[in-house]
Amino acid sequence: MKIAVLPGDGIGTEIVAEAVKVLNVLELPLEMETAPVGGAAYEAAGHPLPEATLKLALQADAVLFGAVGDWKYDKLERALRPEQAILGLRKALGLFANFRPAICYEQLTHASSLKPELVAGLDILIIRELTGDIYFGQPRGRRTAVDGHFPGSEEAFDTMRYSRPEIERIAHVAFQAARKRNRKVTSVDKANVLETFQFWKDVVTEVHRDYPDVELEHMYVDNAAMQLVKAPKKFDVVVTGNMFGDILSDEAAMLTGSIGMLPSASLDKNNKGLYEPSHGSAPDIAGKGIANPLATILSAAMMLKFSLNQPEAAARIESAVQSVLAQGLRTADIWSEGTQKVSTREMGDAVVAAIASSK
Ligand code: NAI
Ligand code: MG
Repeated sequence: MKIAVLPGDGIGTEIVAEAVKVLNVLELPLEMETAPVGGAAYEAAGHPLPEATLKLALQADAVLFGAVGDWKYDKLERALRPEQAILGLRKALGLFANFRPAICYEQLTHASSLKPELVAGLDILIIRELTGDIYFGQPRGRRTAVDGHFPGSEEAFDTMRYSRPEIERIAHVAFQAARKRNRKVTSVDKANVLETFQFWKDVVTEVHRDYPDVELEHMYVDNAAMQLVKAPKKFDVVVTGNMFGDILSDEAAMLTGSIGMLPSASLDKNNKGLYEPSHGSAPDIAGKGIANPLATILSAAMMLKFSLNQPEAAARIESAVQSVLAQGLRTADIWSEGTQKVSTREMGDAVVAAIASSK
C-alpha cells in the first residue's frame, strides 16, 4: 500500500511526523514517500504543487496531507499561493466528497463551547460536496452593472451551479455512509430561495428511492445552523453543497472542543482519498512543538479505514487516542486544570505506546 506523505507548511511537518510514527508502529506493509507541497514546495521548486509531488499523489493509494499556508505568501499571485496546492490535488485526484466527522470525546466534553449535556456522546458526520456550487461556477467576475438597483455602478458576481451527476454521486455517498451508521441523512439546502438547491433537493429525493432503509430529512441551511448548536445530537449524516458544507463543518468542529482534534477525508469515486486535519498550518504556533497531532493521527485512521481497507488498524489508532485522553494527556489547545500538558511529540509518543501495549 503506497502512501504519499505531504507535510506542507507550518505545523504541518510537526503533526505529520507524529502520524507517520503511529502508522509505522502498526507494522502494516505501508510504503510511505514524502514530497513537498504548499509554501515549502514554492520555496524549493517555485510552485506550490510541483509535477513530482502531483505524480507521487496520483500513483499512491492514498495521500496523507498536513497543512499549507502562511501569511508571508499572501502577496503572491493567486496561482502560486500555497492553498492552490489543495485545489490542484482535489481536481487532479477527482476528490468530490469531503467527510468531516465531528466527535466529542468523553474526556473533552467540557472543552466544547456548548453545555456538556448537549455534546456528550456527539458523533455526527458532515459530508460536503467539493467540486461544484458557487465556489467554481462560471461566469464570475466584476463589471459595470447594466440593471439591478444601481445600474452604472461597479458590481461583482459569482454563479451557483450544480449538475445532476454531481448531486447524484454525493447523495449516493451520503446514503451509503448512513448505512454504516444510524441510517439517517439530513440534506441541507436553501430550496425556498435558490433554484440550484431546489434542484439539489429534488435529485437527493430521487436518489433516496434506492435507499428505503435510510431515513431522509430535508432542512434549510439557516435552520441547520441553528439546530447544530441547539440539539446537535439529532443529526447523524449531514450532506450538503460546497459552501454550506464549508460553513457548517467549521461550526460543527467547534462543538467538539478543538479544531486540533478533527480529522477529514476527501474521497474520489473509488474511495481513493486525501486525508488531512480540518485545521490549517497554524503559523501562530508553528515551530513551538505544541500543536495537537491528534487530528492528523485520526486522519491516518480514516485513511486506513476508507482507502486501505484496514478497519482493525484504524480502530487500534482510535482506541489509542481515547486511551491517551483517558490518561489525562493534553496538548495546550485542549489542556484544562488537573490534566497533564504535553508537547506534540510527547502526544505522538503516547499514542504509539498505547498501540504497542494493546498488541
Ligand atoms: P488554522 O486552522 O491554521 O488556525 C486557527 C487557530 O487554531 C490558530 O490559533 C491555531 O493556532 C489553532 N490551531 C490549528 N490547528 C491546531 C492544532 N493542531 N493544535 C493546536 N492549535 C491549533 O487557521 P488560520 O489561522 O485561519 O490559517 C492559517 C493558515 O492555514 C492560512 O495560510 C490558511 O490559508 C491555511 N489553511 C490551510 C488549510 C489546509 O491546509 N487545508 C485549511 C485552513 C487554513
Ligand atoms: Mg473552511
